[in-house]
Amino acid sequence: MQMVQNTSGYITDVAYTDNYYEHLSPLTLNYLAALNGHAPRDLTNFDYCELGCGAGLSLLIHAACFPGGRFVGIDLNPEHIEQARRRASAAGLDNLKLLAEPVSHKLDRSDLPSFDFIVLHGLYAWVSDEVRASILHFIDARLKPGGQVLLSYNAMPGCAARQPLRDIMRRFALPLSQNSIERAHLGLSYLRLMLNAQVPFFRLNPELARYAESLFERDPQYIAHEFFNEHWQPLGIDQVAGELGEAGLQFAGTLPLWQNHPEADVPENLAGLFSAQTSRIAREVHKDFIYNTVFRIDLFIRPEAADSAPCGRAVALWSTPFCTVTPPEKVELSIQSGSLKLPLNTRESRILFGLLHLQPRTPAELSQHPSLKAMSPEAIVDTICWWVLSGQVRPALAAPPAGSLSASTCRLNNVVLEAALHSPAQEKAWLASPRFGVGFAFEKTEALVLCALAGSPGTDPSTALFAQIQQSGLSVEEEGTPMNEADIRQLSDQIYDELDASGKLERARQLAIIE
Ligand SMILES: C[S@@+](CC[C@H](N)C(=O)[O-])C[C@H]1O[C@@H](n2cnc3c(N)ncnc32)[C@H](O)[C@@H]1O
Repeated sequence: MQMVQNTSGYITDVAYTDNYYEHLSPLTLNYLAALNGHAPRDLTNFDYCELGCGAGLSLLIHAACFPGGRFVGIDLNPEHIEQARRRASAAGLDNLKLLAEPVSHKLDRSDLPSFDFIVLHGLYAWVSDEVRASILHFIDARLKPGGQVLLSYNAMPGCAARQPLRDIMRRFALPLSQNSIERAHLGLSYLRLMLNAQVPFFRLNPELARYAESLFERDPQYIAHEFFNEHWQPLGIDQVAGELGEAGLQFAGTLPLWQNHPEADVPENLAGLFSAQTSRIAREVHKDFIYNTVFRIDLFIRPEAADSAPCGRAVALWSTPFCTVTPPEKVELSIQSGSLKLPLNTRESRILFGLLHLQPRTPAELSQHPSLKAMSPEAIVDTICWWVLSGQVRPALAAPPAGSLSASTCRLNNVVLEAALHSPAQEKAWLASPRFGVGFAFEKTEALVLCALAGSPGTDPSTALFAQIQQSGLSVEEEGTPMNEADIRQLSDQIYDELDASGKLERARQLAIIE
């Protein structure tokens, strides 16, 4: 067993769950920055750091998708870092460094570079004031001018209402056990007792009753990490922006995406109040009240120079490639996002969508197309942004050479699949998409077929799938009896045909997970 030093009240006796978050992708960060008018970072050559990376699933997927990036993951729990190292080594990722250390003032290592991106998901609101100060020190010391920081946290005011639930679970469980996972079970059993007894607290707070019920759907490891650390503090965006401001960073955007579009982000009947709001932070504070926000994901940037101004959305996105994720026959033209009906159903908008199908193109390239020549750069970029907001177009990486799947994503996808196949609790496997620079969740059987096809392009599907099953050491059974090769091949053909008919193979091709 490895020694864990100075956890500052953060639990280490239970590992965290394996999660993937696409908002940690460098491509998502760049898009969010550019949407708000800030110049994106160069994605062919950059340094990226994830603080509190857990077992590193997001980090590994991003390292595989961006071979030109150099990635660092830091987590105080050696078990998390061990697991991340094992997977990185099995996938042959050589652009990733993993450190089992707490973020502290001591973490000012000469062998760490300055970073273009620093991200932290699920850390900032679960640590002491001292650790938060260390995180800010790290960001201050290690973020390049123009660099971006993405952080997520339990937010005011919505999360504050949950404080009594946390407090009472802890008051009940802490004296009964030293072990965090047992404490999680004990805390849940207390909630179950109170919910079943229909106590006035839950009758008077129906939203909290719904939230308490939802906790039984969660993995107990999640419950332990959410509620049984010493520190837990919902934070206001004004406080967080103030803390990052002291390190010279500016607020640069937030997720979900519609919250960055003033046309969509506030209820129509309150638009008057907001037209007088000049400060973006004030706007965010009021929106958090209106929507009772419980969790925030925010982006901050360090300006290149103290007096540098944002360059504007059209300039910032002019050279970003975009590509469709929805096939034309399934496109949805009538979509409401926040208070806005997205203007997708115009002639130019539909032409633009068609041009982005299967072929990543930048606004600069689109502007050269004869049918779009009359559109201004701003109109082209805004139209793309509406498509992105609709979820049917995404920022993409530049097109890889035809016929070449990324070797690093193929290898990593196999490693992620193996882990999922041998973990009965895990329902899905996230596969890295070299086209969109993020992971997409697939059912495990679907992922098995996709990895088989990606690993043996041109091979007959049943042979590829049979080989993949053999390689995974899976025993395929029917009613408890192992199946023979002929039956497995027949089953493989059937699964392949089903995936083909449902359009999932086409989708995987679109994501460049298979050829
Ligand atoms: C809630 S988990 C989030 C993990 C991962 N980012 C995710 O979202 O799936 C918080 C992680 O931060 C790590 N952590 C907590 N305090 C830390 C510190 N002071 N320095 C480095 N890592 C820390 C924990 O070990 C844990 O893996």
